[in-house]
Amino acid sequence: MAKDNIKQTIEALRNKINEHNYQYYVLDAPTVTDAAYDLLYRQLVELEKEYPQFVTPDSPTKRVGDKPIKAFAEVTHSVPMLSLENAFTQEDIENFNQRISDRLKVTHIVDYCCEPKLDGLAISLRYENGLLMQAATRGDGETGEDVTENIKTIKMVPLRLQGNYPSLLEVRGEVFMPKKGFEKLNQEAAKKGEKIFANPRNAAAGSIRQLDPRIAASRRLEVYFYGVGAVEGNVKLETQFTMLKHLASWGLRVNPLIKVVSGVKGCIEYFEEIAKLRDKLSYEIDGIVYKVNNLEEQKRLGFVTRAPRWAIAHKFPPEEVYTVVEAVEFNVGRTGALTPVARLKPVFVHGVTVSNATLHNMDEVERKDVRIGDTVIVRRAGDVIPEIVAVVKENRPANARTIKLPKTCPICHSHVERIEDEAVAKCTGGLFCSAQRKEMIRHFAARRAMDIEGLGNKLIEQLVDSNMIANVADIYSLTQSELENLERMGTKSAVNLLTEIEESKKTTFARFLYSLGIPEVGEATGKQLALHFKTLDALQKANEEELQAVSDIGPIVAKHIAHFFAEAHNREVITKLLKAGVHWETVKNQASLPLAGQTFVITGMLSHLSRDEAKDTLEKLGAKVAGSVSSKTSYVVVGEEAGSKLAKAKELGIKILSDDEFMLFLKKHV
Ligand code: IVH
Repeated sequence: MAKDNIKQTIEALRNKINEHNYQYYVLDAPTVTDAAYDLLYRQLVELEKEYPQFVTPDSPTKRVGDKPIKAFAEVTHSVPMLSLENAFTQEDIENFNQRISDRLKVTHIVDYCCEPKLDGLAISLRYENGLLMQAATRGDGETGEDVTENIKTIKMVPLRLQGNYPSLLEVRGEVFMPKKGFEKLNQEAAKKGEKIFANPRNAAAGSIRQLDPRIAASRRLEVYFYGVGAVEGNVKLETQFTMLKHLASWGLRVNPLIKVVSGVKGCIEYFEEIAKLRDKLSYEIDGIVYKVNNLEEQKRLGFVTRAPRWAIAHKFPPEEVYTVVEAVEFNVGRTGALTPVARLKPVFVHGVTVSNATLHNMDEVERKDVRIGDTVIVRRAGDVIPEIVAVVKENRPANARTIKLPKTCPICHSHVERIEDEAVAKCTGGLFCSAQRKEMIRHFAARRAMDIEGLGNKLIEQLVDSNMIANVADIYSLTQSELENLERMGTKSAVNLLTEIEESKKTTFARFLYSLGIPEVGEATGKQLALHFKTLDALQKANEEELQAVSDIGPIVAKHIAHFFAEAHNREVITKLLKAGVHWETVKNQASLPLAGQTFVITGMLSHLSRDEAKDTLEKLGAKVAGSVSSKTSYVVVGEEAGSKLAKAKELGIKILSDDEFMLFLKKHV
């Protein structure tokens, strides 16, 4: 075959495959069998293998990258991604409708475009001249993460638009995992002893936030598009509904249940209609979104802070089901707190099998009078941990057993103590208790603490259970040969982990204090303590009164800190950590630092530094870094594609530093 012919054949195959994808995914009306589709696909793979010069990045064979990426880059949304106000009752909807009529000064009944509210992850895709260039998560609404490689693995996301599309299109939608895919994923995870996802939303988010696109590709993700961000080119969009029709004509999948209705009455009828369908849908929804249909009216209504005035989410009431308490067990946390957890006869509540519910503490158990054998009402609202609402007393069997706080820890059998006036009961085993040890090590290795990424839950379980480590200092004496012999650990992962452990030794005093897991000492308190005492020696010597001199530290926290350092075994672990090489730069006097007292806001994408690096550098120089612009802001650092923060800074007349100016500024101060 002549080269030209081959190129044409390849293109024809791609067009056919894209067309079939569109018919299958967007129109839900396939015109070929799976076998016929597979044949076309295989032909394309073969031809591309033989003629790699004709491979293009938008080829349907190029959906899955073959290696993990290192980290997600930041993406600043050119139009912010907003969230929605929630409504729970018909009255809320009537008020919403009234506010709209008042603001628009209209007396006619407003038309609303009604859409199911999907329970997934919001994404924004950028198509330039019809080609998918970038996919980003919502993040904080202004800045998200670049997840292009993972989004490309979703077959119903077109890599190339069709029809009469605009030259630039930012399209927004929700990525979600259908109920079946979710169940399957969890079944497989359970078989392999891996982590189970609490709900389809977490599963979707977890899949999209994978660094390895091959993992994302193996998950059954779907998408529905529901709106646009920036649009350039000759399209005229008049209503929400016609906009969606346009999206579909460009090959973007839109929910077929979307409908335009008239006024509150229409909205409520739609709500009830979809509520009845809910269980039969193949995916989770948690409510209905009503949007003013007329786009010109949407524009006139505008926004309040993070949510549009022209849309509202009408949430379904939290789901309640009946089940039976089969047992109550006590979980032991990092500080030894015992939490009663009810083991329930498994019940299915909207896509999630619930088999545990927290009972928080013994006061709660007594207040609700929950007994083993009781029939209870369990509520699950969104991704909140399932909760026991009440006991059905009429169904209480004669042999129902009251729940007793164990006298000894279920894990280490140390004595359990319940301090008077305090709801929590605690295991007194301290670091002798393996449950506390595991939690402690988990906390120590966490990203915001010593940041040892490869030291995950499964590995900690193995290391503690096989007595390879007993406390956090032991992490630093692990050897390659010891690690290699563990389950699911090869030479490569052992070496990687040891490198990470080595790198973690260089830390800051504040992080170190936080990672020790002193009760009530979070990140902010860690920073305050580091700044105030400067050295570990000074901190260890401080009595409760001296500790209370630190801003934000009251008598309770001071007591916890003093007790912690008074314990011989804690001091021993600290000495070992320092001996192993854990170190930090001397803490400088805040007031003497060059940028003391100044507040910075960073917005947009910086080209020289990542946002975390810029933040760390500023903090080291004594400055504060804030999330939003106010009259107290000293400087706003503006990267590429800066959004509303830049506008706000200009409005308030705050000094603005461009990306390059910021680098010069830093040079001057270090
Ligand atoms: S519209 C400016 N429509 O709900 C309007 N959002 O609670 C912004 N969501 O972040 C969103 N289904 O992730 C819209 N049909 C739908 C939706 C939907 C799910 C999510 C979206 C948003 C969140 C807000």
